[in-house]
Amino acid sequence: SLLSVNVWNEDNSSKNLIPRLQKVKNNYLAMNKYNVTYKGQRNTAKLSPEKLLCQLRDRVNVTMIHGSDGPFNTSEWQMYLPRKNLSQEVGHFRQCAVVSSAGSLKFSHLGPEIDSHDAVLRFNGAPTIGFQNDVGEKTTVRLVNSQLVTVEEQKFLTDTLYNTGILIVWDPAPYHAEIHEWYRKPDYSFFVNYKAYRTRHPEQPFYILNPKMQWQLWDILQENSLEDIQPNPPSSGMLGIVIMMTLCDEVNVYEFLPSKRQTDICHYYQRYHDRACTMGAYHPLLFEKNLVKHINQGQNELIYTHGKVTLPGFRNMHC
Ligand code: C5P
Repeated sequence: SLLSVNVWNEDNSSKNLIPRLQKVKNNYLAMNKYNVTYKGQRNTAKLSPEKLLCQLRDRVNVTMIHGSDGPFNTSEWQMYLPRKNLSQEVGHFRQCAVVSSAGSLKFSHLGPEIDSHDAVLRFNGAPTIGFQNDVGEKTTVRLVNSQLVTVEEQKFLTDTLYNTGILIVWDPAPYHAEIHEWYRKPDYSFFVNYKAYRTRHPEQPFYILNPKMQWQLWDILQENSLEDIQPNPPSSGMLGIVIMMTLCDEVNVYEFLPSKRQTDICHYYQRYHDRACTMGAYHPLLFEKNLVKHINQGQNELIYTHGKVTLPGFRNMHC
């Protein structure tokens, strides 16, 4: 049927990528910047969606850096890190929306549906003003990467876009690194601007994601893929999905798996075209999408029309 042809195929392989993106993937494999040495198994027979969900719940430890952790247990860091942990801060939500920043959100009219959720997660510099009709206006959590926090041109310290909701920043760590080693040499030196932002906005909750989580998630992605995936951390999108699965009863993800509006326009808020944004280059995004398709509990038709995937929160799973 039209649907099965046009909805994301969960057995998608990198062989189906355009040659440029195949080459980029192979270059990242050769570079192995984070010294990944994967020793785990490979599931040639697919795990059931239920088993895979339980693996995610039991092996991905979603935690934020706390003032009692490793090198952060100094009196200086106590002034900057939030006192309450994330679930103390937000409690727990019933229905949550995760809004990818894909170009296919444009002309989607999904705004009201997205805003009807108890909590909405957005990524990096994704705006709502001017785009309410397509992406809504509620922002409960914003997950940002350390590059955005660090690089001057991104205006993280001054753009009011960042002043709403709870902020979480993540930074790529080496595969085997302990927190101490990562602390001495983060991928981007974002701690300076983290402190500066906390000083300017002391009342806004702003967390640092514990970097262990990205590789626990990556291991599960690799384990359930038939080929070698990019040895780089999962995308913000995939990290955000798992974060919300820890906080919510149900998570609806919009335009992570592309709808009928699929486009090479990278973001709904920019004019830049690059297929890598949807198919992956640095991030193992293709394999993230395969996994999310496999565990989707919603109908394929809703992927086609709304780019919508429905995932259960971890608290509602029986493993
Ligand atoms: O580009 P950025 O990382 O800010 O976008 C947020 C997330 O949305 C990405 O990490 C990716 O998971 C998802 N995305 C996507 N397709 C696009 C753009 C973004 O799946 N075209």
